[in-house]
Amino acid sequence: MRNGLILIAAVIAATALTSGEYSSDFMVKLSTTTPQPNTTTPHPNTTTTTTPHPNTTTPHPNTTTHSPNTTTHSPNTTTLHPNTTTPHPNTTTAPPAPTPPTNMTKGRYNVTDKDGNICILADLGIGIRVNTSEVNGTFIVQPRKTTSSGQCSEKTADITLIFDEGSLALKFKNDETKQKVYVEFVEFDLTYAFKSGASENYGGKNESLELFSAAPGHSYSCSAESVYMGNGVSLDLTNYRLQAFNIKNKAFGTTDLCKADKPDYRVPIAVGIILIILIVIVVIAYLISRKRRSNGYQSL
Ligand SMILES: *[C@@H]1O[C@H](CO)[C@@H](O)[C@H](O)[C@H]1NC(C)=O
Ligand SMILES: *[C@@H]1O[C@H](CO)[C@@H](O)[C@H](O)[C@H]1NC(C)=O
Ligand SMILES: *[C@@H]1O[C@H](CO)[C@@H](O)[C@H](O)[C@H]1NC(C)=O
Ligand SMILES: *[C@@H]1O[C@H](CO)[C@@H](O)[C@H](O)[C@H]1NC(C)=O
Ligand SMILES: *[C@@H]1O[C@H](CO)[C@@H](O)[C@H](O)[C@H]1NC(C)=O
Ligand SMILES: *[C@@H]1O[C@H](CO)[C@@H](O)[C@H](O)[C@H]1NC(C)=O
Ligand SMILES: *[C@@H]1O[C@H](CO)[C@@H](O)[C@H](O)[C@H]1NC(C)=O
Repeated sequence: MRNGLILIAAVIAATALTSGEYSSDFMVKLSTTTPQPNTTTPHPNTTTTTTPHPNTTTPHPNTTTHSPNTTTHSPNTTTLHPNTTTPHPNTTTAPPAPTPPTNMTKGRYNVTDKDGNICILADLGIGIRVNTSEVNGTFIVQPRKTTSSGQCSEKTADITLIFDEGSLALKFKNDETKQKVYVEFVEFDLTYAFKSGASENYGGKNESLELFSAAPGHSYSCSAESVYMGNGVSLDLTNYRLQAFNIKNKAFGTTDLCKADKPDYRVPIAVGIILIILIVIVVIAYLISRKRRSNGYQSL
């Protein structure tokens, strides 16, 4: 029994050790392979020292006037090659330029009911993105030039944002059977010239939705989400927080994050499990080695 245990532990310890060796080998390989691109760059430089060669060859073929002409040209083309190869490392080291982010500006809007209580509170940046065969562009709603209006009842609440170029309306539903508050209707209207020339009118609505769903008294928060409105038009909502109904102290309630923003614990958990396994292996290996040593002393 004891011998069997020792064998198993030895195998585990050995695999732990070898796996460690593998990883260190791998690290060494990685570090040795990275300098290689640097050592290749000097090569074109050594070819530039060969350019004198054509100079010495030109006097030789005096009788054949055509061949020296063609040979004098070829060194020129070879000297160009190193020039074309040297820019390559430059392009790989420079990171690809990111497309400049559109300047989404967040606005704060609210709707009060007939008693003067706030029934819709909305912090959001809004872009209306059009992607058709004629137009590609995003119109960004400017909060400074936007006013809000709306009305609230027990089961539904509307907010309409009105700006110079159009409007956007959201309708919240207080769904008592589902115990959820969500947006069930979105409608927009936009008249805007995405390219110089005639401005065009875009509009659409999307009904029977269940967007931005939160528990009653909670707010819904998300860093970015898109709602397709049909005909190549999407609403891009960024850094937003919404709440309708049960707003206390004119402030948002507990935040319900959208799926995309929920923290992902899978990687930390996997790392933790691997660490625990490693610790157990190390402890077993240590115990085994101690036992072996004491056995050795006994035999002496
Ligand atoms: C190459 O030719 C140029 C111009 O004819 C001359 O000045 C130079 O000394 C030559 N170099 C060699 C190595 O012959
Ligand atoms: C050889 O080249 C030299 C200098 O370019 C020239 O003076 C001479 O006439 C040439 N010889 C012949 C045979 O073409
Ligand atoms: C050779 O060079 C001379 C002078 O540089 C030029 O006039 C001639 O056309 C060239 N011949 C060829 C075949 O390139
Ligand atoms: C609600 O909107 C009004 C008018 O835009 C504004 O004066 C007020 O501060 C807002 N209230 C809150 C709590 O944001
Ligand atoms: C436009 O829509 C097409 C698909 O219809 C998509 O592949 C493309 O990425 C969109 N372009 C932009 C700028 O959103
Ligand atoms: C808009 O983008 C889509 C895909 O990204 C492309 O197919 C379409 O031609 C573009 N339209 C314009 C007007 O650039
Ligand atoms: C309404 O929204 C849903 C969900 O975003 C989408 O799948 C659907 O295509 C939209 N309908 C129209 C008519 O835009």
